[in-house]
Amino acid sequence: MILSPTAAHLAEAAAALRAGELVALPTETVYGLAADARQPAAVAAVFARKGRPADHPLIVHVGKPADVQDWAAHWPEAGARLAAHFWPGPLTLVCERAAPVLMAVTGGQDTVALRCPAHPVAQALLQVFGGALVAPSANRYGRISPTSANHVQADFGDALRILDGGQCEVGIESTIVDVTGEPRILRPGAIGVQALEAALGRPLSSDAQRPRPRVPGALAAHYAPRRPLQWVAEAHLLDTVAQWAASLQVAVWSPVKPNVGECFWLAAPSDPNDYARLLYARLHDLDASGADQLIVSLPDTAIANTDGAAAALWAAIADRLGRAATSQR
Ligand code: TXA
Ligand code: MG
Repeated sequence: MILSPTAAHLAEAAAALRAGELVALPTETVYGLAADARQPAAVAAVFARKGRPADHPLIVHVGKPADVQDWAAHWPEAGARLAAHFWPGPLTLVCERAAPVLMAVTGGQDTVALRCPAHPVAQALLQVFGGALVAPSANRYGRISPTSANHVQADFGDALRILDGGQCEVGIESTIVDVTGEPRILRPGAIGVQALEAALGRPLSSDAQRPRPRVPGALAAHYAPRRPLQWVAEAHLLDTVAQWAASLQVAVWSPVKPNVGECFWLAAPSDPNDYARLLYARLHDLDASGADQLIVSLPDTAIANTDGAAAALWAAIADRLGRAATSQR
């Protein structure tokens, strides 16, 4: 059930979490499926409910930066700098785990991923709950991430408590940075290389942009709609639509309406912040349109853009679209 974030509902949600139940909560990136990070049965329920493989570690969400001392074996200087700069916010830091951290949380690894979310409802719930919460994106494994309470309800049904925090501001998952050694990016997000390097006062490790195999969310097939999806640069949109529309119903999300064939069309923004915020909602919409083939195009400016923050966002968007498109159905 979708709950408005009143004090009474926050108290109810916190009590449910203490009792080992799951609660969906809004964050500034995407909605999360939260459980008490200290309860083995609650953590196991997250994996079961999502259909997530056991070796895919979860992010531990803390209410304030100082709480990392309960989760990290030690807090490296790079972690401290980045946390001071970007927390609360859409940044996850991977560090060595403290001994009591459940192995189920870390997927059997010696590291743990930590994030302090900025969304006021996530913050309020963490304060009332008083502990830390594991929270993977609140979608079934491999499916499109949720950016509204309705998305979560569509995936998990009415039995799950879902705190409504409106539409997520950022719209794509947090940037993940490994700070166990020289800092490197494990998953691109809204906070990009330039911003990270400015906060660190030095360059990221040279292979910073190459995701490691041990970040299971970086698997090729992920974030996927039910229908096959192809994504193209704007210059190839007309050809692509014409090809598919000859034999299939197509649904298109693009800045300019393709004047070719019959298609279901939704207008895409050209600003990367707007594009990221709407991305998952529009993938959900295209999927629900009843079309056989989904087509998404990136605006020309996405490819031409070299400005640090915008380029980082476009790269993170292209990363998600690439995974949504490679999924095999
Ligand atoms: O924005 C976000 O990060 C959202 C919101 C809800 O906070 N959460 C999220 O969780 O995206 P999830 O479970 O969908 O993705 C977590 C990613 C996975 O790719 C996982 O492999 C990686 O974090 N991860 C978690 N712990 C890790 C670790 N110790 N080392 C490397 N990667 C880790
Ligand atoms: Mg996810």
